[in-house]
Amino acid sequence: MTPKDNIFAESFSQVKAFEFDEKVVSVFPDMIKRSVPGYDTILKGIAMMAMKYVQPNSHVYDLGASLGAVALTIDQSIGHQSVKVFAIDNSKAMIKQLYSNLKSIQLNNELLPDLADVHQYPVTNASMVVSNFTLQFMPVEQRKKVIHDVYRGLNPNGIFVLSEKVQSSQALIDYYHGYKKVNGYSDMEIAQKRQALEDSLRPDALDEWIKRLRNVGFAKIEVWFRAFNFVSITAIK
Ligand SMILES: C[S@@+](CC[C@H](N)C(=O)[O-])C[C@H]1O[C@@H](n2cnc3c(N)ncnc32)[C@H](O)[C@@H]1O
Repeated sequence: MTPKDNIFAESFSQVKAFEFDEKVVSVFPDMIKRSVPGYDTILKGIAMMAMKYVQPNSHVYDLGASLGAVALTIDQSIGHQSVKVFAIDNSKAMIKQLYSNLKSIQLNNELLPDLADVHQYPVTNASMVVSNFTLQFMPVEQRKKVIHDVYRGLNPNGIFVLSEKVQSSQALIDYYHGYKKVNGYSDMEIAQKRQALEDSLRPDALDEWIKRLRNVGFAKIEVWFRAFNFVSITAIK
């Protein structure tokens, strides 16, 4: 069983900036499930899309893979397709744990963890690229380049799935905090985590993401999932 996330359960006199370090890695599966509304539904949607879009002998990219939930979901859903699935993350602690987890998992395709920055990553021969709540952590000025590289590296009819926390009304933000409370986080945990994320997680407006996707050339763009201030978008080349 995954250890429970209680990182922000004690009161800190000064809250440190959030980092994907060993401490976070050790509770990450619990943290993401209790913090991202619809996380399991999004993974199921990604599995379904992989079954439709992933092509044999192509590449699949999981940008900001953490412990590889997206990469593993895709591998399991498509069966043997001689696909290379790249699971990229710039957190040493995440990639180390992913390597260790993979020792006990039977894969259908090649899954390649890579300690690297998404901003510099070459995307080629791709039938599917997923960024599940990652670009929100990158500097705003780097986001357009990543989208552009993804578009360029996708094969025709390839799919990009982009999930992001987005700017929203205070009402939706309040609902979201209520959602975390329902999932067992205290008011203090919610407040301290929000403070820790203040400088590292910078949500863009949903319209801004759609504009970026359209500007680099994506033809069919759809918001296929939304819960409060969390969205997931599909963009087809
Ligand atoms: C919210 S987690 C992603 C969750 C994961 N995609 C999933 O579905 O379980 C964000 C991840 O992005 C990684 N990350 C943030 N900025 C990055 C960058 N510039 N390059 C690579 N990875 C990055 C973090 O280390 C972290 O593991």
